[in-house]
Formats: sequence, structure tokens, C-alpha cells
Amino acid sequence: FVDKYLQGQHWVITAGPTREAIDPVRYISNHSSGKMGYAIAHAALRAGAQVTLISGPVNIPAPAGCELVQVTSAEQMHQQALTYVSQATTFVACAAVADYRVANIADEKIKKDNEHMQIALVKNHDIVADVAKSAHKPFIVGFAAETQNVEHYARGKLMRKNLDLIAANDVAKAGQGFNSDDNALTLYSAIDKIEIPLANKQIVAKQLVSLINQHYLAKNTE
Ligand code: C5P
Repeated sequence: FVDKYLQGQHWVITAGPTREAIDPVRYISNHSSGKMGYAIAHAALRAGAQVTLISGPVNIPAPAGCELVQVTSAEQMHQQALTYVSQATTFVACAAVADYRVANIADEKIKKDNEHMQIALVKNHDIVADVAKSAHKPFIVGFAAETQNVEHYARGKLMRKNLDLIAANDVAKAGQGFNSDDNALTLYSAIDKIEIPLANKQIVAKQLVSLINQHYLAKNTE
């Protein structure tokens, strides 16, 4: 028996990396596998939520029953996130969005004619920060992958991006975080700090979804 405690809620989740094209055959990206975001989508579905998964390119299947919105670039993810936010009760930003995109994407494959080359980059929109500025502001959870001063940087992002919760993981620790099957998280609200110990991402996601809901209910019954 699975408790459908999220019945009536609509979770919009971003997951995976983004790809920023350099030319028709090359791109800039990162090591995000999408596993954490997909595990959250799965756990939210199991708990009875309607789930929209806005995903960058990954090699894992979407959980059955979710609405999958596939994107490639940060700009596309930004556009889809702002489209779906109006339906969301909860927005979870798990995607590892590229901070910069290529200023001028080459129409043709760039030739290796020069010893040196430079690519100009421009900053991408901050998706979760823009979701937090939308007229219909859902309950918002961000992620912070840090290698040092984890609490300091995570709390900074919580405040600056105007989030309700932030889930921090220390990606410098072996056996957790990017690409790994396991993760450990510390969840911060403006007042709380809750540890989710190292475990399989499916188990971590199940605990995280329940904790997000507890904070969501506390906020919405204030
Ligand atoms: O990249 P950063 O550490 O600032 O990411 C923190 C949070 O902000 C994450 O939840 C990430 O998904 C989100 N983010 C975003 N759009 C960006 C950069 C980050 O939604 N352009």
C-alpha cells in the first residue's frame, strides 16, 4: 500500500544537464546524469502527485506516468519552466543548468585552422530564480552542488534566488552526487537544517519528497 499523500499536487521538476551548442557538432555541458531529478519525479508520482519532468538530454527512461518535456539548451529549459510554472504547486529545480551559452553559435563546423581559438560566452537566465519571480509562485526547491563551504553557499542561494528550500550536496565527497547512484543531502529552509544520510538516490528522493511536502503544508497552512 502506497500512501497517496501528494494527491491534488502538481510537481514540476527540472532534471539533467543542458547542452549549449558551439557549432552543429559540438557543445558545452556537464556530468549531470539526471538520476536525482528522475528519482524525485518517481517518488512524487508514487505519492500521488501529477508530475511534469522538464529534462535535458539523459540516458535514463522517464518514470511511467509523468509528463516528459524534453529540452536541450538552458534557454529551452527556461522557456518550458516559465510555461509550466502556472500549473505547479511545487517546483523542484534539480537540473544542472549551464551557467553560460555560446554567444554566436557557428552555422558550420569550426575548422582547426588556428593554434588558438576563443569562444565568447554569455550568461544564461537563472531558471529557478525567474520561476520564483513569476506571478504564480509555487513552493520552490533548489539544489546546490558545492565542493566547499556547502552551508554558506547553499544558504546564499536560498536567499538570493528566493527559494523555500535548498537541498545541498557535497560533490567533492566520493561516491555521491554527479553521476553516482548514491547521494547524501542537507536540506535548508530559512530556519531548518535537515540531514538526509548517504543512500541510493531512490531512497534519498523518497525522504526528500516527504520533507518537501511537510514544509509545503506548513507554509500553506500558515
Ligand atoms: O548553478 P547554481 O549552483 O546556482 O544552482 C543552484 C540552483 O539553481 C539549482 O537548483 C539549479 O537547478 C538552479 N539553476 C537554474 N538555472 C540556472 C542555474 C541554476 O534553475 N541558470
